[in-house]
Amino acid sequence: MKIINLDETDSTNEYCKRVGRGDLIVTAVRQSAGKGTKGRSFCSGEGGLYVSVMRHNTGYEADEAFKIMINACVAVCRTVESFKVKPVIRWANDVLVNGRKICGTLIENTFSGNTISRSIIGIGLNVNNVLTAELKDIATTLSSELGNPVDLDRVRTVLLKNLAKEYTVADYKKYIDWLGSEVILKTSSGEKRATAVDVDWDGGLLCIIGGSLKKINSAEVSLRL
Ligand code: BTN
Repeated sequence: MKIINLDETDSTNEYCKRVGRGDLIVTAVRQSAGKGTKGRSFCSGEGGLYVSVMRHNTGYEADEAFKIMINACVAVCRTVESFKVKPVIRWANDVLVNGRKICGTLIENTFSGNTISRSIIGIGLNVNNVLTAELKDIATTLSSELGNPVDLDRVRTVLLKNLAKEYTVADYKKYIDWLGSEVILKTSSGEKRATAVDVDWDGGLLCIIGGSLKKINSAEVSLRL
């Protein structure tokens, strides 16, 4: 696949959209307007790994969007693991180490009828970047977990290799150690306690809330572990 390595751009996802056609990998040393999920921004200083993979006509149906998320999250987890650091997935799209976020993914799909005609898989992995004071309590970097700087080119090579593979829900669940535990579901209308039971085939989170089993959609809810 064609790879474009940039010094700086607003957002590698937005760069892919501007290019528009062809399958493409875009990386940037830093992003001036990194985007997170749910309209948030993503802190993207030098030293982190900022990658977007744009793929067209992958054959996924609209209700298989979660497979794209699985592939991204498992690829990140395997990458982090290869540096002897233990990752945990916080459903649906974050990867944590020792309770702090090390990576976020932003997947932007375009639909054509019942199929996904284009997906842009954006990954922001904290490697050697310096975290702001307000992120320090909730985020971490590969280098601070290891106690030494990490070869960013090596991380990028391993991640791109892992992103070229396909993974299953079972692979995804291997990185979830909190099923069966109490979690907090955060919605726009407030917070609810629930017991997380399983991740369903389509990525929904099965939870027991007030005695009954419910399926939660990640577009509406985020999770506190
Ligand atoms: C999140 O944690 O909410 C998702 C963060 C996704 C960040 C990556 S960095 C590469 C790509 N470009 C962006 O602007 N966002 C994604």
